Amino acid sequence: MPELVPVVSEKQIEERVEALADEISNYYKGRELVLLGVLKGSFIFMADLARKLKIPVQIDFIAASSYGNSSISSGTIMVTKHPDIDIKGRDVLIIEDIIDSGTTLSYLVEYLLSMEPASVKTCALIDKPERRQKNIKTDFAGHVVKEGFLVGYGLDYAENYRYLPAIYHLKF
Ligand code: IMP
Ligand code: MG
Repeated sequence: MPELVPVVSEKQIEERVEALADEISNYYKGRELVLLGVLKGSFIFMADLARKLKIPVQIDFIAASSYGNSSISSGTIMVTKHPDIDIKGRDVLIIEDIIDSGTTLSYLVEYLLSMEPASVKTCALIDKPERRQKNIKTDFAGHVVKEGFLVGYGLDYAENYRYLPAIYHLKF
């Protein structure tokens, strides 16, 4: 059985999500934002973040999959669920669980820019710079975690552990 080593506690997540919500609310003050969650990993983070925001938002989801090797992004990304909301002329904030190599987020930014939104920015709960390959920085980041494979609070390993309320390092 793999071991679950605590990395970010429930309380630490809650405090950081609240601070992030303030940052985002201030940044987009007076505008009406579209929150675009990347399925499935962002579902808990997005639900908590949305409820802490002090500005009106619309909620939508997008899904992407990468071909080939499943533990490292292959570099070839395909959008498998497109946004329902017409984002042309809108301010869009992509909500991701984790940025690792950066392949997924940089692809999604380019893909969304082709729909002519007013702006596209990114927000990731976890920033894991260890394996970064793309020159992309998240505009809003929760916790920086140096290394390791993380699960819980939406993050999975083979669809397991998403339901855990805190974030753990999965050690084999
Ligand atoms: P990237 O394209 O390499 O930045 O990878 C982003 C995606 O890979 C995330 O949306 C996650 O689905 C998955 N991923 C990367 N690192 C982890 C991790 O430590 N735990 C769980 N999923 C991860
Ligand atoms: Mg994901």
